[in-house]
Amino acid sequence: MKKILFASSECVPFIKTGGLADVAGSLPKCFNKDEYDVRVILPKYECMAEKWKEQMQYVTHFYMDISWRSQYVGILQMQYEGIQFYFIDNEYYFNGPKPYAGGKWDLEKFAFFSRAVLSALPVIGFQPDVIHCHDWQTGLIPVYLKDSFHGSEFFRDMKSVMTIHNLKFQGVWDVKTIQDFSGLSDYYFTSDKLRDYDSGNYLKGGIVYADAVTTVSSTYAEEIKTPFYGEGLDGLMRARSNALSGIVNGIDYDDYNPSTDKNLEHNYDVENFRKEKKKNKVALQKELGLEVDDKKMMIGIVSRLTDQKGFDLIECVMDQICSDNIQLVILGTGDAKYENMFRHYDWKYEKSVSANIFYSDALSHKIYGACDAFLMPSLFEPCGLSQLMSLRYGTLPIVRETGGLKDTVEPYNEYEKTGTGFSFANYNAHEMLNTIRYAEKTYYEHKRDWNKMVERAMTADFSWGTSARKYEELYDGLLNC
Ligand code: GLC
Repeated sequence: MKKILFASSECVPFIKTGGLADVAGSLPKCFNKDEYDVRVILPKYECMAEKWKEQMQYVTHFYMDISWRSQYVGILQMQYEGIQFYFIDNEYYFNGPKPYAGGKWDLEKFAFFSRAVLSALPVIGFQPDVIHCHDWQTGLIPVYLKDSFHGSEFFRDMKSVMTIHNLKFQGVWDVKTIQDFSGLSDYYFTSDKLRDYDSGNYLKGGIVYADAVTTVSSTYAEEIKTPFYGEGLDGLMRARSNALSGIVNGIDYDDYNPSTDKNLEHNYDVENFRKEKKKNKVALQKELGLEVDDKKMMIGIVSRLTDQKGFDLIECVMDQICSDNIQLVILGTGDAKYENMFRHYDWKYEKSVSANIFYSDALSHKIYGACDAFLMPSLFEPCGLSQLMSLRYGTLPIVRETGGLKDTVEPYNEYEKTGTGFSFANYNAHEMLNTIRYAEKTYYEHKRDWNKMVERAMTADFSWGTSARKYEELYDGLLNC
């Protein structure tokens, strides 16, 4: 039995701010259980729902030295859907209304978490063959493994994998502060290790010291070797290219299943979507106060409202989009300028635009279930999960050809009758607008072709199966078996 530990700062269903949580929560369930014992460790945040906190069982606690500090490390555990979860408890670090506060406090918090993960292992008696680290919050784990923990036999052969879910976030502060938080010596703060000019960089440390580095689509794995997508680390990504691979994310096909989804008023499948799916559109139109018309094309957006997701393109041509014969439904929170932009258009085009500036899992499912198309014109997108959810619900994605969007959405070819969505190449508002209008034309004038495309989208397989096998191969490669 090979033992794997996922270390992550968020994980569904316990705590989520983004796609990382979906991956950390759904992938562990998809490994071959006869060969891989995959467990997950994450912080126990004060802001987690009571119903989860109540189910956690206390295991033990100890005090850990990190830099000049001595800190309490509590360990709790819980079995959930067949997976063993561990939670690191420290009320000083993991308090507050959200997992991340922004700023340097987060850096101290995740230096603590990374060291606590390793320190906890001998105590709980779990000796993983591979520690699979996710994003900058766990970037110090591969570093610590090669540093002070290396001296102990328990850790000596332990391998680490660093997965980059989004290279934009690296965990960076000035060297002195990072040294103070991490307790790492001067040796680590040269430009071939954690140093990035005058800063210390957690993710860089993880990328340098991990035995393998992965990211969440093959296109993104190539893109980050270029300056445009490399976020200052493209040179390092090129240097590590032998250790770097892209493994596309999947989604949980039980949670996202239009034929059983309890959030939908009308369940449907690939056989009956022509009749049933539009009933969800009518239900949503009523719920959101839009004009009720099951023939009107409805476009959805479910997203963090940030620059990454291409909202400046949308802003640029929003009046043109809204004056077309469509309805637009938005769900999400983020930068105030985009929240307010959508509120404004919701007011201006009352009957055709619905801006829902909050997050609701239930409403997101209703949007996937009701809409005809889904707009995601990202500037960059390591993988993207909502286009996968859209495909599963027969809601055709309109995307920019970047990262995982390029790898998962096959553009419509009207001559060969292939494709599962619509895409454009350049980060240009009018290119996007033309693509949206091409989708509108297909929807209104070539309904048969559209419906065939919905069939292809709904039967495309983006469950975890194939990708989980690739992670298994990666682990096997590291363990030489
Ligand atoms: C980040 C990326 C997104 C990816 C997700 C899970 O949120 O921005 O593209 O799908 O991580 O890997």
